[in-house]
Amino acid sequence: MHEARGVVRIRGVSRLLPPPWKTKVVEPIALRVAAERRIAIGEAGYNTFLLRSEDVFVDLLTDSGTSALSQEQRAAMELGDEAYAGSRSFFRLEQVVRETFGYRYLIPTHQGRGAEHLLALALVRPGTIVPSNLYFTTSREHVELAGGRWVDVAVPEATDPESPFLFKGNIDLERLEEILDAAAPGEVAYVRQEACLNMAGGQPFSMENLAGVRALTREHGVPFILDATRISENALFVKEREPGYEDRSLPELIRVIADHAEGAIFSSKKDHFVPIGGFVAVNDLELARRLREQVVVYEGFPHYGGMAGHDMEALAQGIRESTDERIVQAYVSQAQYLGTLLADAGVPIVVPIGAHAVFVDAKRLLPQLDQTEFPAQTLAAAFYLAGGVRSMERGIVSGQHGSDPYDDLELVRLALPRRVYTQEHLTWVADVVKHVHGRADEIPGLRITYEPEHLRFFQARFAPLEVFPDLAIENAATAPAVLEA
Ligand code: F0G
Repeated sequence: MHEARGVVRIRGVSRLLPPPWKTKVVEPIALRVAAERRIAIGEAGYNTFLLRSEDVFVDLLTDSGTSALSQEQRAAMELGDEAYAGSRSFFRLEQVVRETFGYRYLIPTHQGRGAEHLLALALVRPGTIVPSNLYFTTSREHVELAGGRWVDVAVPEATDPESPFLFKGNIDLERLEEILDAAAPGEVAYVRQEACLNMAGGQPFSMENLAGVRALTREHGVPFILDATRISENALFVKEREPGYEDRSLPELIRVIADHAEGAIFSSKKDHFVPIGGFVAVNDLELARRLREQVVVYEGFPHYGGMAGHDMEALAQGIRESTDERIVQAYVSQAQYLGTLLADAGVPIVVPIGAHAVFVDAKRLLPQLDQTEFPAQTLAAAFYLAGGVRSMERGIVSGQHGSDPYDDLELVRLALPRRVYTQEHLTWVADVVKHVHGRADEIPGLRITYEPEHLRFFQARFAPLEVFPDLAIENAATAPAVLEA
């Protein structure tokens, strides 16, 4: 298996190299006893989104807004200029965005979906289409709310959890060309390519593919916009995996990727280590004007969007840190490490191991369940019951769309907040997942009891089809010795 440079094997045992930081401030966490976990997941309707964080031990729900700030980010926050208009913090952020990504115009928003909303309002008209590598939930929702249609042009490997293809974030260029050829003038609102494709397992695109998408969109006169939320990890994977890029620096690679597109949206809650923030950045003045017309309606004045001045300072510093190869390498290696522990134990996971998370394949782990019995939702509940680990469903609950039957990826995501957990936390998670894997045949499915109309995964509620067995790792005959100490 392909392994990141931050994971080493010492006498056959995988180890993480120490990260380039140490802990200065800590937040207490606790493992609730098994009976309390049963009550908590029941009250949450078997939806991990609805658990209270105080009931969670290791929280791998998301890598979004959950990273640790650096001392430099906290110091920068003291400089926040909270002026409504003309804030110094905005101009500092604009400068960093220009230097790092090269885009001329910055429109700040409260988070990624704010940027997606503005972009959809500016570019999508009823009846237009947005070809993209797979989908992200909120990205697709905003396009559809604006009357557009999402068209999946991911390579087929993206939805094959067992394919070892190294660039599952690639776009199928032949399919994209067919669509662009067949489209009427103005019918394609824009082409979107997402870096380190979240829903496929945190999988990168290659520079070669990116260049192909740029060539096709230029030839057809269609805007090309990146979802650059996880651009740092994509750049690192290019450096590690794509011939010809091994000697380029991470800042250079990030810049080259950004240069391929006319603009990008970012959820800064991921690579930029901030609890809140995002932006859209573009090169075209006319498009920037249209975005600024919308930002004042939905987010705030263009000099802060949805952020406070101190948020913009933390973000500017976070962007600088997001180009530091040692930092990016350290957190990507955590996913590689956790994934290696699971793969070595025979747990079915998405390969290659992604950047921000390890994805467990619930179809293969719970083969007794039909997809309409929500295997991934079930498995996420089981991980919580077994050891207080919170993860997220990325299967039929998130992916089902309209009335089309869904038979695609059925994954549980163990997402790694950046700079937060230690190797000990990760070995705990691996023990919990392995324990559930060993008890898989006893686990019943779920039925849905409440389903919101939009983005149902966030707030849907479920009930078990049969009583869940006692999955608590500490009650198991084979419980790790550490629990008895
Ligand atoms: N684009 C991608 C690729 C994302 O992963 C997300 C959020 C967004 C856009 C929206 O950004 O949350 O700041 O509004 N992903 C989070 C996750 C929620 O858990 O994967 P947002």
